[in-house]
Amino acid sequence: MYVFQYAADLSRYTSMAPHTSVGFVPTMGALHAGHLALIRRAVAAGDLATASIFVNPTQFNDPEDLRKYPRTPEADVSILAKAGCHAVLMPSVEEVYPAGGQSYEFSFGHLETVMEGAFRPGHFKGVAQVVARLLDMVRPQRLYMGQKDFQQTAIVAEMLRQLNSSTQLIVAETVRETDGLAMSSRNVRLSPEFRAAAPVIYQCLLDAKRLYPEMDAAAITARAMQKMESAGLRPEYFEIVDGRTLLPVGNPRQADFVVACTAAWAGDVRLIDNVVLRAAG
Ligand code: PAJ
Repeated sequence: MYVFQYAADLSRYTSMAPHTSVGFVPTMGALHAGHLALIRRAVAAGDLATASIFVNPTQFNDPEDLRKYPRTPEADVSILAKAGCHAVLMPSVEEVYPAGGQSYEFSFGHLETVMEGAFRPGHFKGVAQVVARLLDMVRPQRLYMGQKDFQQTAIVAEMLRQLNSSTQLIVAETVRETDGLAMSSRNVRLSPEFRAAAPVIYQCLLDAKRLYPEMDAAAITARAMQKMESAGLRPEYFEIVDGRTLLPVGNPRQADFVVACTAAWAGDVRLIDNVVLRAAG
């Protein structure tokens, strides 16, 4: 596996590779099995599998979160290589955001103001900005992202539409620990007590899947918020939304793609997760 600091060097490498497609997995590092599943998916598709590791400052609304974000570059490089990744780009902030360089400003309407957007103002503008820049640098045919960050995939899909991009977005299932907790780079920061409590998030999502649509969305939400609080978490939201618009489902019988999404604090670690309640036919 090749490690590149500069996009120009990565481009030279991809243009010489025998593969007909480049598959790209953008990450912020502190890699776990969820990230590696995306890499393996690109490899299995026959892509030249490329990843990036870049802790993007523009998507952190909380400076403490940026400061505390886990950084494990040596371990990341070694596990990427083992997963079959062909090349990884580890750019500097100056490389991603050069002075006087192209700057992307997107508007996503309510897609960026609901749920995560409501609690993390500006977050999705930062995500779209960095993904657009990374796509310029990597020029992939396929972009692999995780369902774990469901709203992020909706934002990126909309961004690709707005850019008229030919890059195809592939969304891969959430990889979980054996007790159901969604894998996340932030999990390493959980105390033993909060690590033990955190699986309640997935249990609430599975409850929602079992109860919907016979129980109405407001009742399911109230029950989930209560259950997370009883387990010692501080839930921010639990919403049952239309998977395309991300707006609360009105008539459950009419919605054909329904997703339950939630965010909760486990001590000073903020966790998000979601489960599809009804898949788009
Ligand atoms: P990061 O949190 O490092 O995640 C990188 C990719 O891995 C994202 O597409 C995310 O959805 C996916 N992922 C994370 N945990 C997963 C899990 N348990 N199962 C499956 N996929 C999982 O998301 C970001 O970084 C950043 O916002 C980024 C897109 C890189 C832009 O900076």
